[in-house]
Amino acid sequence: MDLCRFHYCLSRLIFISGIVFPVMVASIGVNYGQIANNLPLPENVVPLVKSIGATKVKLYDADPRVLQAFANTDVEFMVGLGNDLLAKMKDVDKAQTWVKSNVQAHLPATKITSIFVGNEVLTFNDTTLTGCLVPAMQSVHTALVNLGLDKQVSVTTAHSLAILETSYPPSSGAFRRDLTSCITPILNFHAKTGSPFLINAYPYFAYKASPKQVSLDFVLFQQNQGTIDPSTNLHYDNMLFAQIDAVYAALAALGYKKLPVHISETGWPSKGDEDEAGATPDNAKKYNGNLMKLMSQKKGTPMKPDSDLNIYVFAMFNENMKPGPTSERNYGLFKPDGTPVYSLGIALSNSTFSNTTSFGGSSGSSDTPTSSQGSSSTGYLTISSATTSW
Ligand SMILES: *[C@@H]1O[C@H](CO)[C@@H](O)[C@H](O)[C@H]1NC(C)=O
Ligand SMILES: *[C@@H]1O[C@H](CO)[C@@H](O)[C@H](O)[C@H]1NC(C)=O
Ligand SMILES: *[C@@H]1O[C@H](CO)[C@@H](O)[C@H](O)[C@H]1NC(C)=O
Repeated sequence: MDLCRFHYCLSRLIFISGIVFPVMVASIGVNYGQIANNLPLPENVVPLVKSIGATKVKLYDADPRVLQAFANTDVEFMVGLGNDLLAKMKDVDKAQTWVKSNVQAHLPATKITSIFVGNEVLTFNDTTLTGCLVPAMQSVHTALVNLGLDKQVSVTTAHSLAILETSYPPSSGAFRRDLTSCITPILNFHAKTGSPFLINAYPYFAYKASPKQVSLDFVLFQQNQGTIDPSTNLHYDNMLFAQIDAVYAALAALGYKKLPVHISETGWPSKGDEDEAGATPDNAKKYNGNLMKLMSQKKGTPMKPDSDLNIYVFAMFNENMKPGPTSERNYGLFKPDGTPVYSLGIALSNSTFSNTTSFGGSSGSSDTPTSSQGSSSTGYLTISSATTSW
């Protein structure tokens, strides 16, 4: 985001095979999920993250091996506090213990700038879990205040797009009515502490659900006519922007016009089952490559043209231990051996693939999936299949 880092990236761009245009990637985030038993050691992931120009990484836990491997790099981290820990975190002392050992212990060497408390909690329709969310966010924030870290580390939570009841046209975006009473205190928390609203948004699910009705070009950021929102006259030529603006509209409807919306997950699978239309390497390359190109243009959505896009692509790796349809295991930009699943078609920085020999099967230490993700109670096992009214 800041200009220095932007130029730093630029000066190190080189072209690799299959490049059609140079891309000046400003501030890309990437999700680093680890539900797999064959991933490279974290120290070997550092150059891969840099190779795609990513400056931000989101973890689903606070894996100390990863946080240590990225010490003294410029990469910013968002760490996760799993759904299974929410009930415990209502207690400020326990939250403070967690923050001390999972966040403070790595600062300042590793740039942890955010904690997301709970993943897609509201769409489990579990009133007990939902009831724990805001108290847990508050405790974690209080713990940060007590430790003098609240200015550098923000607290948020990530939602599924399925919290929306209406998403089209974007100006009519509205939250599920039954969720209003639990969303409002979350929005209050964001407004008070200055943290962003996070949403996981997958145009892929809309396409998969109705491949005959949904235009592939519209979901893949390809040239197309787009659609006009009749009440704002704003023109949309891709579905992700329409989804983001639907969230802005839903926030505005509750009186939170100013909250920034960040996309904590989006992506496209390179492989799927027979009934999963569109899951191909070519489509995944178009989705993620075009998205990164768009982010580099530093433009916002039609409704928020002056707000930078803050997007975390899902995901670094194909994750072989994720349950569900084949697509779930094939969202990665990289294979576990560190080679790209497809060429993104963008210029990559050169630290890249100079040392790929160090990948692949050498280590025994990553044979088990990271503990908190392995548990089904954390909510990270499947990507939410939010299909909205497209
Ligand atoms: C949660 O409740 C909503 C609204 O009643 C419903 O549409 C949705 O399918 C439910 N989700 C789950 C996971 O049960
Ligand atoms: C790659 O970058 C490093 C420093 O970042 C530089 O010293 C080196 O010459 C570059 N290599 C190529 C092939 O551009
Ligand atoms: C390449 O990997 C080897 C083995 O992991 C390591 O010893 C070496 O320092 C690496 N070289 C570079 C240039 O990163």
